[in-house]
Amino acid sequence: MLYRVEEVEKGDNLGEYASSTTYWLYNDETNVLLGASNLRHYLTEDGLKLWGHIGYGIRPSERKKGYATELLRMTMTEAKKKNIDKVLLGAYIGNIGSWKVMEKCGGKLENIVIEEETGLPVKRYWIDI
Ligand SMILES: CC(C)(COP(=O)(O)OP(=O)(O)OC[C@H]1O[C@@H](n2cnc3c(N)ncnc32)[C@H](O)[C@@H]1OP(=O)(O)O)[C@@H](O)C(=O)NCCC(=O)NCCS
Repeated sequence: MLYRVEEVEKGDNLGEYASSTTYWLYNDETNVLLGASNLRHYLTEDGLKLWGHIGYGIRPSERKKGYATELLRMTMTEAKKKNIDKVLLGAYIGNIGSWKVMEKCGGKLENIVIEEETGLPVKRYWIDI
């Protein structure tokens, strides 16, 4: 997996995907990996239509402790270093925790689109970094 993460960061063998950087949220004191985020360096046509620049996940035992909010903030700081000034994000309407994280980080609702494959509504937000 780490090999693939490196490859995608360098832009090798991307297929239909954008190049991206993966960040790990790690607690040095307890040696626990808390979660990870993925920052896409640019938006493909599909990225612009649905999921945007950043995805994230927190391990189940560590959820609802504010970690995803912190991780998104930290990932946006890294995005800024890559000269990305605003990011688009998307979350299923049913994934309340995910879009709440976006709103807590300053997300402005852009629109709600329906994912073709599933028919599920996706809330999309822009955040000025
Ligand atoms: C979505 C996810 C990243 C949230 O992570 P988290 O660390 O629990 O989020 P936070 O603790 O920063 O919570 C942010 C807000 O959302 C709320 N929240 C989190 N999970 C929630 C849930 N399941 N239902 C309702 N509210 C929720 C929190 O209470 C908090 O709101 P508050 O500050 O008003 O109390 C996590 O549940 C996850 O990894 N899910 C699986 C992967 C995923 O769906 N990723 C997002 C893809 S778009």
